[in-house]
Amino acid sequence: MAKTEQVAENAQLKDIIAHAKEYGFVYPSSEIYDGLQAVYDYGAYGVELKNNLKRLWWETMTRLNSNIVGIDASIFMHPTTWKASGHVDSFNDPMIDNKDSKKRYRADVLVEEHAANIENAGDVERANSLTAALARLLEAEDLAGVRDLITNEGIKCPISGTSNWTDVRQFNLMFSTQIGSVSEDASTIYLRPETAQGIFVNFLNVQKTARMKVPFGIAQIGKAFRNEIVARQFIFRMREFEQMEMQFFVRPGSELEWYKEWSETRMKWHRALGIPENKLRRHDHEKLAHYANAAMDIEYQFPFGFKEVEGIHSRTDFDLKSHQEFSKKKQQYFDPEINQNYIPYVIETSIGADRLFLMTLCNAYVEEEVDGKQRTYLKFHPAIAPVKAAILPLTKKDGLPEKAMEIVENLKYDFNIIYEEAASIGKRYTRQDLIGTPYCIAVDHQTLEDNTVTIRHRDTTEQERVAISDLHGRLTQECSFRRIFERI
Ligand code: GAP
Repeated sequence: MAKTEQVAENAQLKDIIAHAKEYGFVYPSSEIYDGLQAVYDYGAYGVELKNNLKRLWWETMTRLNSNIVGIDASIFMHPTTWKASGHVDSFNDPMIDNKDSKKRYRADVLVEEHAANIENAGDVERANSLTAALARLLEAEDLAGVRDLITNEGIKCPISGTSNWTDVRQFNLMFSTQIGSVSEDASTIYLRPETAQGIFVNFLNVQKTARMKVPFGIAQIGKAFRNEIVARQFIFRMREFEQMEMQFFVRPGSELEWYKEWSETRMKWHRALGIPENKLRRHDHEKLAHYANAAMDIEYQFPFGFKEVEGIHSRTDFDLKSHQEFSKKKQQYFDPEINQNYIPYVIETSIGADRLFLMTLCNAYVEEEVDGKQRTYLKFHPAIAPVKAAILPLTKKDGLPEKAMEIVENLKYDFNIIYEEAASIGKRYTRQDLIGTPYCIAVDHQTLEDNTVTIRHRDTTEQERVAISDLHGRLTQECSFRRIFERI
């Protein structure tokens, strides 16, 4: 990306962050104390949008697939879980501190950013050889070599401007805490860095109690925690976030077919949500984690470039096998069709609820000029919009508020509705555009005569006259998840 393009894109992200705060979507956590890095809170409209996205994912998984059921596992798990999963020994990032600014950086990110600057300045070959050298050093776990690369390249701390670096050290990303009230008895446990392990350790519980037959899946939505060193790009990389993961258990040998199927299904889901084709791409992993035999990411073009929103991994039998070894409890399934016991293989689909939220927000954010005037609105699909309709009496008198409240009473049990009577109708429309309400329903004097209202459409600003008796049916049709489901 050229530098000027990059500046414009970052300005767009700044606008989106400011909009999210100003209009009740996302605030920095504990802001009155100047916030906490990489931790955010969702406001009145943010929580509605996030809940709608989570519900859409949940229903896609558990309603559209009769062979997928849900689970809600705890955040705390027995500490051996994380030994078995490999997180205690290898869930690390290489980090380096600048001795003058006392700031900590991810060593690989420092080199990658330096390479990106070199590439932007036109020397693509040197940038490529630098990233290749970094990949070789990381592969060989040569941390001293990574430090030498940083110093030899003259990479400076952006804060202090010096190259006074510490050694590079591995830094485990898991948060730990103590369980137990008496300090001598207390033992270290971790805040889960992924929800997946809660599914793996419950694999047999769910299989038996829900009477599932392979192939089947277990879906879960829940918090995960990672002590990310580089906390940037708003809610893209958080320290406390939510994951929506589905583990699909299959017969060994059939996993690559299922991997293909899930990769395609998940791509379709993103398109059905209204993400344009040119803003989505799949990135197939060439270098695979030791437990995977295929892996890909679904990437979205954020204002800061194409980045991962969801990962699809064929995780083999690594996790169940490892839990079997560490727990000494068999993690096998008896397959009546082939009369065999085996440890199933697993396809995982894993998406961050917060990243999905950010993608949805970036995709919905529209700034346009109409008749020389700037207009900003959020073009959410009606099924996921935080507020479905605003009921607006034209004036505060002549019985219009009472008539409008009758409409609210009729709709509020099934839809998230706003009633507003203050300010001019134009101002009220603008306010609803800014939070992405797809329909504004105006009650005027004609309403009192013929029981009709105007519906003003957010994206086109066009208005139509509709009978009050048709409103419920119209909203049900327009705001139903079914409209999205049918496109998957
Ligand atoms: N169980 C597999 C797993 O956890 P991952 O690629 O590390 O894989 C899956 O994470 C998804 O979780 C990512 O695609 C992303 O959407 C989300 N995610 C991961 N780390 C995150 C973070 N620090 N902040 C927000 N979302 C994150």
